[in-house]
Amino acid sequence: MNSSPTYESAVAAVRQPRPNVGAKPDYRELIRLGSLAASSHNTQPWKFAVSGGSIRIIPDFSRRCPVVDPKDAHLFKSLGCAAENIVHAAAAQGLRAEVDFDDEERAVVVRLIPDPTCGETALARAIPSRQCTKARYDGSALDREDLATLDRAGTGEGVRVILLTDDDHKRAVTEFVNRGNKDQLSDPAWRDELFSWIRSNDRESLETGDGLSGRTSGQPSVPTWLARLLLPVLVRPKSQMKTDAASIRSSAGVAVFVAKDDDAAAWVDAGRCYERFALQATALGVSNAFINQPIEVPAVRPEFERWLGLKDEHAQLMIRFGTGPQMPFSVRRPLDDVIVSTEPNS
Ligand SMILES: Cc1cc2nc3c(=O)[nH]c(=O)nc-3n(C[C@H](O)[C@H](O)[C@H](O)COP(=O)(O)O)c2cc1C
Repeated sequence: MNSSPTYESAVAAVRQPRPNVGAKPDYRELIRLGSLAASSHNTQPWKFAVSGGSIRIIPDFSRRCPVVDPKDAHLFKSLGCAAENIVHAAAAQGLRAEVDFDDEERAVVVRLIPDPTCGETALARAIPSRQCTKARYDGSALDREDLATLDRAGTGEGVRVILLTDDDHKRAVTEFVNRGNKDQLSDPAWRDELFSWIRSNDRESLETGDGLSGRTSGQPSVPTWLARLLLPVLVRPKSQMKTDAASIRSSAGVAVFVAKDDDAAAWVDAGRCYERFALQATALGVSNAFINQPIEVPAVRPEFERWLGLKDEHAQLMIRFGTGPQMPFSVRRPLDDVIVSTEPNS
């Protein structure tokens, strides 16, 4: 019998719901659900430490992306995404979570307090099936009630979400995204960094447990040697611009997460708001995928923020959303690789 995992079995194993049978908090289970969060290039730039009834989410700077993310803003947003998953997973275990940013350690601290009023919610149930759906959507609009629910989910302390649903706005966003694409895809350093996180076949995905699997965006699996030859030819500004224009046109709308501040604590809060929006969207059957180019490219961001009418706020993340197909899920690293310390019995 061949016991090596396949892509499907590896993805299913990490997403399998595990009921909490004991009376004690199951910190390992909370970390598993935290690590199912979105992260930039699926770098999973986190380590988790359990102590004194808290889970600390520590940045793993060995997984940074210095070209696309020189200030580590996306890295801290990714930590915020993981924290938000833990908040909802904890409620399902009867734990209220309080989230703080520890400036000295630059870590996110999730304090967990037993609270009999907490329980499982639709957002907690959505954690294993949330994904960034990198495909065309069906072009249908969302009703007003769902838009209002998503708006509430994406709003937090110092963070609000701007929803753009009319065609003129979507066209203008496409222009900004494509200016970003042109800049990024013409930069050899940016391309090298992106290619280093692309996993072209199942073996690469299973070996690393991270990165951008072609499967998640509907690309065929190709041998590593062939991918090295094909990627530089196929990933070009023109083809990406065409794909992104069609993807945005197929979406019900675009959401921009904006924050009052532009520092590590604000990045964590923006990540939390995005992840909460994404969990709520999943619960409503709504798909989403990032289109961050105008925020990532310094030459485009100020003009994009002016177009949004921002004065004392900063654009942090942008996504498109709508009704789309479910795509293959992305892989995760083994839990033992991301847990750095646990309390006895946890
Ligand atoms: C801060 C942040 C920035 C991201 N930026 C992009 C992006 O610019 N383009 C993109 O296609 N996906 C982007 N992603 C999505 C990741 O690629 C995705 O979360 C990761 O591959 C894991 O897949 P999953 O979210 O489906 O589990 C971003 C995610 C985060 C948290």
